[in-house]
Parts: sequence; C-alpha cells; structure tokens
Amino acid sequence: MSFQNLLLDVAGGVATITINRPDKLNALNAATLDELERAFEQCRTSESVRALIVTGAGEKAFVAGADIKELAQMTPLSAKELAYRGQQVLARVEHMGKPTIAMINGFALGGGLELALACNLRTAANTARMGLPEVSLGIIPGYGGTQRLSRVAGPAVAREWILTGDQFTAEEAHRVGVVNRIFPPAELRAGTLKLTESILARGPVAVRFAIEAINRGSNIPQREGEILECDLFGLAASTEDMREGMAAFLEKRKPSFKGR
Ligand code: COA
Repeated sequence: MSFQNLLLDVAGGVATITINRPDKLNALNAATLDELERAFEQCRTSESVRALIVTGAGEKAFVAGADIKELAQMTPLSAKELAYRGQQVLARVEHMGKPTIAMINGFALGGGLELALACNLRTAANTARMGLPEVSLGIIPGYGGTQRLSRVAGPAVAREWILTGDQFTAEEAHRVGVVNRIFPPAELRAGTLKLTESILARGPVAVRFAIEAINRGSNIPQREGEILECDLFGLAASTEDMREGMAAFLEKRKPSFKGR
C-alpha cells in the first residue's frame, strides 16, 4: 500500500508510521487523515505488526495540528463533519488492540497532541513542545482533546492547557503525566524502541486485554470496569500464555509466549 503523506515501515514486529509533510510541519490535512486511517487499519490487521510507533518527519515537528488552511474554510456543518472524521480516525489507533506509542519528536499541537493522546503511551524529545492552542484560533479542540486530556492528566491540567492554549515543554508534559518518558533528541528512537520491546516481551494476549480494560474502563462507572476486569482476567486464564508465564516463573526461566 502506498502513501503520499506518510511513511510506513515494519521492522522486528514494530511498525512505524511517520507523518511526512515536513514543509507544513506535518499538519493533518484531509488527505493525511484518510491515509492515517488506512495505515492504522493495515497495522491492526497485519500479523507481522505487534506494536505501532507514530511519529513526524523532520526534526521540527511531530504534528503541528489540523491543517489551518482547511480549517479556515469551515462552515458549521463541515466543521462538525471534520471533527467527527478526525475522531473516527483517532479511534482507530486507540482501539487497535496492540500497543501504540506516539514518539513526539517536536511540536505536537492541536490535532497533533490529540493524535498522541489517542495512543496508549507517549515518549518525547526533551526539546519538544506541545499544547492545545485551538482557543487562539477561536475554536476548541475537536479531535477528542477535551475528553482525552482530562482522562490522561486530569481535569485541572486539561483546563489549564485548553483554556490558555499555551505551549508546554516536554519536561512540563512529563511532570503532569501527558508524556510517559522524555529523552534527548538523539536517544528518542532508541529509548522508544526499548520501551516498546519491554512491552513486547510480555504476554501479548495479556497486554491486549490490559489495554482493553484500561480503555473501556475509563469510559464506564468503576464497578462496571471492575466487572469487565473480572471477565478479561478469567479469559486470560484460558490462554497457553498464562500457563507458560506461571510455569516459567516457577521454573526460574524466561517465558516463551506464543500469543494464544
Ligand atoms: N496547518 C497548516 N499549516 C501549518 C500548520 C498548521 N497547523 N502549522 C504550520 N504550518 C505551516 C506554516 O503555514 C508554514 O507554511 P509556509 O512555509 O507555506 O508558510 C510551515 O508550516 C512552517 O511553519 P511556520 O509557522 O513558518 O514555522 P515557525 O517555526 O515559525 O512556527 C509553529 C512553528 C508550530 C509555532 C507554528 O507553525 C504554529 O503555530 N502552527 C500552528 C499551530 C496550531 O495552531 N495548531 C492547531 C491547529 S487546530
């Protein structure tokens, strides 16, 4: 499958999607959103992909937001449709069922940060800057930012970031939990791969169930989330991986998971 605005590369079970419009700071225009949707679906269905890293081309930007040239033309109805479309595409990465990591190599603003928030985890170069500057343009975040930032970092952080529209440093993002790990730029790729590989060394079905329990659980009352946890805990006990994980511990050896 070929793309105009993305690069998709798979190595050692890890897919990397690189948004590739560096002259526009990788801004998400409609064509790029369409391609992202196809690339996410390809990663979801491909057996050779066990985890996904999303990043931006060049040293300057991860993604500097939705394409303001396109936003400037919006009518109320097309704006509603655009928000719906962006949310639909980002839901694809959120519900991929495989570990997804946004590797924030530079500016992650507006739709760029919203894309990163839809991934399971976020790493960043310590030089990166991020924020939700939509109110500076007279709009509000429309790709899930008002909902996911609260869930990731709490409502106080979400209010500060969204109401001020300010840019924040990677250190500040790390301090408030928006970003999981930060690295010097030259170590970002290696550090992100190491994090990814530490997840891939665990039981793949268990990792998938854990992602599902956390994602679905954050949108339902706690008691219902706990019941979902019971069900997935029970289902995990049906896997060969559970038997292997327990046996390996008792036999003082490393487990060899099969993903079934
Ligand atoms: N949409 C469309 N084009 C964008 C863009 C966006 N979100 N962000 C950057 N670009 C384009 C610029 O228009 C410029 O294109 P040009 O060379 O054809 O004029 C190019 O990318 C480089 O950006 P520029 O603004 O010149 O770089 P800078 O280093 O001076 O500033 C930013 C970098 C990120 C601070 C600045 O580009 C910016 O504020 N971008 C918009 C961020 C935003 O509000 N995003 C939320 C949208 S909802």
